[in-house]
Amino acid sequence: MKSSDFHPVSCSLLLAALTLGQPLISPVPSTYQLYNDSLLMGVWYNRISATAAAADGANGVNQQWEQGTSTVWYIELQRFDCDDVTAAVYANRPSLLSNGENIFNWGFSKQTVDGGFNNCSNCTTPMQGTGDAFHSTSMFVEAVARCLILMWQSPNFVTYESYFNQVVPKLIRAASWLLVPSVLTIGIKNDMPYTHRRYILAAALAETALLTNDSSLQQQFYSQAATFAQNGLSLQDPSGFNPEKGGYDSSYNAYGLYQACNYLVVYPNVSLRQELANMLSNSFAWQLTRMNPNGSANLTGNTRVTADNNTDEVARSGYDKDYDYKSTIYAFELGSVLLQNQTLHNEAQLVAIYKGYSH
Ligand SMILES: *[C@@H]1O[C@H](CO)[C@@H](O)[C@H](O)[C@H]1NC(C)=O
Ligand SMILES: *[C@@H]1O[C@H](CO)[C@@H](O)[C@H](O)[C@H]1NC(C)=O
Ligand SMILES: *[C@@H]1O[C@H](CO)[C@@H](O)[C@H](O)[C@H]1NC(C)=O
Ligand SMILES: *[C@@H]1O[C@H](CO)[C@@H](O)[C@H](O)[C@H]1NC(C)=O
Ligand SMILES: *[C@@H]1O[C@H](CO)[C@@H](O)[C@H](O)[C@H]1NC(C)=O
Ligand SMILES: *[C@@H]1O[C@H](CO)[C@@H](O)[C@H](O)[C@H]1NC(C)=O
Ligand SMILES: *[C@@H]1O[C@H](CO)[C@@H](O)[C@H](O)[C@H]1NC(C)=O
Ligand SMILES: *[C@@H]1O[C@H](CO)[C@@H](O)[C@H](O)[C@H]1NC(C)=O
Ligand SMILES: *[C@@H]1O[C@H](CO)[C@@H](O)[C@H](O)[C@H]1NC(C)=O
Repeated sequence: MKSSDFHPVSCSLLLAALTLGQPLISPVPSTYQLYNDSLLMGVWYNRISATAAAADGANGVNQQWEQGTSTVWYIELQRFDCDDVTAAVYANRPSLLSNGENIFNWGFSKQTVDGGFNNCSNCTTPMQGTGDAFHSTSMFVEAVARCLILMWQSPNFVTYESYFNQVVPKLIRAASWLLVPSVLTIGIKNDMPYTHRRYILAAALAETALLTNDSSLQQQFYSQAATFAQNGLSLQDPSGFNPEKGGYDSSYNAYGLYQACNYLVVYPNVSLRQELANMLSNSFAWQLTRMNPNGSANLTGNTRVTADNNTDEVARSGYDKDYDYKSTIYAFELGSVLLQNQTLHNEAQLVAIYKGYSH
């Protein structure tokens, strides 16, 4: 081929790349296909232990609340069941499945007639409803929906079917509670400083939409999810991070990218997918600048998860927040698949080795 033949082609390809932005894997995988990943298999599904909840399924501080030694409980702490269920789905570990379902069930045993987890939401201590209701419920909804999708899309769906059928209606009620206008208004206001929460909500609502047969409700979920995602996209800093509390936070940035990946595979709109891919590409580039060569995270300048206990935020456990390496590994690995990018996969591997999850 003469170079004069080649140039117009390469110019038009370049133009297409500039117009369309970051290339995205095609076809976009389902949630099940995305999580069917050999790195995640080695790092998590084959090796994690069951989440150590109480016998009745209460997890973390929720156990202490039950015993009367904590005045508050959080529905979000029941979301770790999804780690167990995911490992069970891919690595055929039935004991993890029952443990995970037990933890989900404790959460749903606290569901109130309004669909939320708000028994006595007006009470002063001892509080009977979940703490931080809107945000906490959004995290729980996201995890339950994602895990139900994994069951549903799995070749072994028949194994999960009766549990799936039992939980889907409860999930839909919980997701609908998030959209009650008075709830949503307060939720949006409280979530304002935290960009990553838009991506949790987008994933939670779009994942639930996928499981919803009522087409009018389904449209409502998809549409509100898109509104959250578009708002999140509009907040990205030109340098790539998604703002948290007026600055950047490498831990929450990674978690937000992970949730944006979860959202991307369930949202059908092509142009929004492209905008998400562009956001991911720029934000992963920023995230890489916050990682050390040995796979540890650089916390300098973070607004929320810092190395200094005087400025670090306190977790639900009452202890200082730790950097979220788990979500960082998920984010880099899922991002590497969606953006077809080896550098991101290598980084996921490096972080996993740093944490001792891989060799
Ligand atoms: C999961 O991935 C493996 C290879 O990594 C493949 O053999 C298998 O077919 C995949 N499962 C499904 C259901 O796609
Ligand atoms: C709601 O709170 C009351 C009183 O605290 C309690 O008796 C009841 O079991 C609670 N209901 C749910 C669904 O948690
Ligand atoms: C909560 O407070 C509102 C406004 O003060 C009141 O209308 C409502 O009845 C209260 N709900 C409960 C369950 O106490
Ligand atoms: C949705 O409808 C399909 C087919 O009509 C049915 O098999 C499925 O169980 C329904 N799903 C839910 C969540 O109701
Ligand atoms: C798809 O997403 C784009 C970008 O967010 C939005 O402008 C457009 O209205 C959406 N289209 C449909 C059909 O929802
Ligand atoms: C991989 O992703 C990073 C971060 O987005 C980017 O800087 C790099 O250019 C990408 N590599 C390729 C080959 O696209
Ligand atoms: C990893 O690298 C960081 C930054 O260079 C350093 O502070 C830390 O001590 C290293 N950790 C290990 C376990 O080598
Ligand atoms: C961590 O980030 C800060 C601010 O960007 C930078 O000055 C510092 O050199 C980085 N630390 C390491 C160990 O690279
Ligand atoms: C900071 O807090 C963590 C967890 O609460 C604790 O393990 C650690 O020892 C504290 N570090 C300092 C320097 O106080």
